[in-house]
Amino acid sequence: MNSYLVTGGAGFIGSNFVHHLLSCTDATVTVLDKLTYAGNKASLDGLPADRFRLVQGDICDAELVDELVRDHDVVVHYAAESHNDNSLSDPSPFVQTNVVGTFTLLEAVRRHDVRYHHISTDEVYGDLELDDPHRFTESTPYNPSSPYSSTKAGSDLLVRAWVRSFKVAATISNCSNNYGPYQHVEKFIPRQITNVLDGGRPKLYGAGLNVRDWIHAEDHSRAVLRIIEAGRIGETYLIGADGEHNNKDVVEMILELLGRPRDDYDHVNDRAGHDLRYAIDSTKLRAELGWRPEFADFAAGLKATVEWYRENEAWWRPQKNDTEAKYRAAGQ
Ligand code: NAD
Ligand code: DAU
Repeated sequence: MNSYLVTGGAGFIGSNFVHHLLSCTDATVTVLDKLTYAGNKASLDGLPADRFRLVQGDICDAELVDELVRDHDVVVHYAAESHNDNSLSDPSPFVQTNVVGTFTLLEAVRRHDVRYHHISTDEVYGDLELDDPHRFTESTPYNPSSPYSSTKAGSDLLVRAWVRSFKVAATISNCSNNYGPYQHVEKFIPRQITNVLDGGRPKLYGAGLNVRDWIHAEDHSRAVLRIIEAGRIGETYLIGADGEHNNKDVVEMILELLGRPRDDYDHVNDRAGHDLRYAIDSTKLRAELGWRPEFADFAAGLKATVEWYRENEAWWRPQKNDTEAKYRAAGQ
């Protein structure tokens, strides 16, 4: 398996995977990305020109997808509309890209018998109570809450059906909340860091007691490559790094790292249908494939992420004003 087609490779996690793949294998990579508001060519700077190319296009374009899939050994599917708040204001692109786009890729890998890995999220399992002793596992029933998570759940179910009915050689991974460099400023951690760098205040939805299970994007990339190389066809693997923190604690850590008082934040309107807690049990991935997170210390990973945004204003500045204008209009 030496030629990879990576969809959504100009986004946050997809670009991290492309850098990882090209640095630790001799593979060649084609990125297929529509370059929506969330895609950024600059996240792919510095890659070896003889082993990498970017094709700007839509995963719903069946002709283009067919041509590209035919010429590759593996498809790794990251492309998606990924932000819950956007899915509440306009669900339509989420149904199109996440469901129809996945269908389009599955039909192409079926026709050309190409290995497929599907990137998904822990949000397909719904949420947990704060004191629930159980975490999500591969056998937790699907129970998505938002337009975003329901379209991701739908795409996962398409993959499962294509494996069973058409013997497509696919694996699925469901990962928890990623953080690290190159994440769009609409997302929680970069939004708060860049608000503070701009002299403003972090914005906490509701009371800030919602819990997310944080994992560094590099640990996610390492897990995905391990699954592609050694995972069992037809299987799902959950990816998580035991990184549960509530939003209020994360905001306080960011304020402290940037030398501001820990209570220097605003409470803003809560998200409709806001999931309370996500938590992943990644025993299967660890026991079967020997994966372990390298960024086990969330505080250290967050500190490095804060530094990255401090040093890379040119990367995030063009997205900041439009993003904050949307949030202001929603009282967030
Ligand atoms: P992102 O929004 O940063 O990037 C998405 C990329 O997909 C962008 O480059 C965008 O241009 C591209 N894209 C969107 N629609 C497209 C289309 N129709 N055709 C081609 N390209 C298109 O997202 P992300 O946070 O990097 O997430 C990537 C994947 O990982 C998604 O499938 C998401 O569901 C999943 N995931 C994300 C997280 C997280 O914490 N961010 C956690 C688990 C799983
Ligand atoms: O769990 C995996 C998912 O993580 C991925 O599938 C999604 O693509 C990704 O966007 C992320 O979803 P969340 O909704 O958990 O992430 P977000 O960064 O939007 O918000 C994280 C938490 O922070 C959530 O509880 C909402 C809250 N929040 C968010 C923003 C933007 C705030 O309190 N204030 C904010 O300004």
